[in-house]
Amino acid sequence: MNARSSLTVVLAAGEGTRMRSQLAKVLHPIAGQSLLSHVLQAAPKGAGASLAVVIGPDHQAVADEVKRLRPDASIFIQRERLGTAHAVLAAREAIARRPDDLLVVFGDTPLISAATFDRLRAPLSEGAALSVLGFRATDPTGYGRLLLEGGRLAAIREHADASAAEREIDLCNAGVMAFAGDKALGILEKIGNANSKGEYYLVDAVAIVRDMGLEAVVIETDEDEVRGINTKAQLAEAEAVMQARLRQAALDAGVTMIAPETVFLSADTTFGKDVTIEPFVVIGPGVTVADGAVIHSFSHLVQAAIGKGASVGPYARLRPGTSLGDGARIGNFVETKAARLEAGVKVNHLSYIGDAEVGANTNIGAGTITCNYDGFSKHKTMIGKGAFVGTNSSLVAPVKIGNGAYIGSGSVITKDVPDDAMAVERSPQSIREGGATRYRELKTKDKKPKG
Ligand code: UD1
Ligand code: MG
Repeated sequence: MNARSSLTVVLAAGEGTRMRSQLAKVLHPIAGQSLLSHVLQAAPKGAGASLAVVIGPDHQAVADEVKRLRPDASIFIQRERLGTAHAVLAAREAIARRPDDLLVVFGDTPLISAATFDRLRAPLSEGAALSVLGFRATDPTGYGRLLLEGGRLAAIREHADASAAEREIDLCNAGVMAFAGDKALGILEKIGNANSKGEYYLVDAVAIVRDMGLEAVVIETDEDEVRGINTKAQLAEAEAVMQARLRQAALDAGVTMIAPETVFLSADTTFGKDVTIEPFVVIGPGVTVADGAVIHSFSHLVQAAIGKGASVGPYARLRPGTSLGDGARIGNFVETKAARLEAGVKVNHLSYIGDAEVGANTNIGAGTITCNYDGFSKHKTMIGKGAFVGTNSSLVAPVKIGNGAYIGSGSVITKDVPDDAMAVERSPQSIREGGATRYRELKTKDKKPKG
């Protein structure tokens, strides 16, 4: 933890038109969480750390996301999109409080880590006025180039304004900067808009700092940490980087994955010890997997808690609100939603269990459906412990099935079943002796066998 106070200003007012989407750019997800949420999580937090987010005038959804994630953040609106320096000054009121360090971060750069923010701030405590995050770009096209003079950072030149020689430089501006808080406002206010786009460029801070006789430094990082997202293709690239990190972290934590490159995780997925994930599993947000559980191939899980030693899939779909007790088993082609299945419950084949509670060690037969929806509202199915639900049963909610109760196969259960009762709901079976033989004779009477 850095002892200096900090203000982080996150710029998220961009229109993101190149995403070709109704959704604001910074709300697009990677690893199950918005771009903005990744940035906000990496930003300094705790005592002495404040946060300001600059958003566009019609970005209510972005404001809501900020409030959800960091209720302590101040939100500022940039009414006209006049450039990155103009955007930072939308938060003038917060900057004027003179934090020790002012960090400026782009909301569309989700792969950045908290450790990098610390590295970037370090030179400020040694007297630098500005610290700029730089990286070596594989393809520098479009990025601002860092111009060094005698090994010292002298200026940043935007691609559009760069000479042919300057465009050869591969050391680029990541967009993240840290200013000495007592000098920040003075520097930012000197930035003008005399460039090819007529925008107030944050990058001009570097030349201003040099002209003021102050020091600007570069801190280098890896390209993968500072990928900015302007297009869906870049979104997919960032997702790939994030998935690789999450898989590596899961492997390091002891998760067994036979083909990790086929497993998709979320940033908030948590694993116990000795968990196994088979190939082609998708884990969405809000999933916890306890010790010894196995997730078999082709399963899809969202907001689900998997108990110790439980088994899921192959081909299972666990929807939000699913909780599986220790040793529970969910088999192939089973869907669950808002369902609490206690320890040892088995739902092994072809079932839908929604808005339900199932007591310990109950066995739910193949093809059982909880009929939870009447076209208007959802209703609950409560099943006790040690019960047995025969195959192909329809449990029409609201309905209760007692502890130890037994439901005959094929039943449509509409009334509560008491503890240890047996309920069977089906038409009597008729037997006609020799009926099959007579039927075959009737059908083949006028027909010669083919061929
Ligand atoms: C910017 C940098 C460039 C750097 C690159 C790294 C400037 C002038 N250029 O270029 O040197 O190499 O990022 O990705 O800083 N924004 C606002 N309001 C505005 C303009 C922008 O909030 O008026 C926000 C955007 O939402 C975005 C960020 O600022 O999050 C960067 O803007 P963008 O237009 O993407 O800048 P680049 O051209 O990528
Ligand atoms: Mg950009």
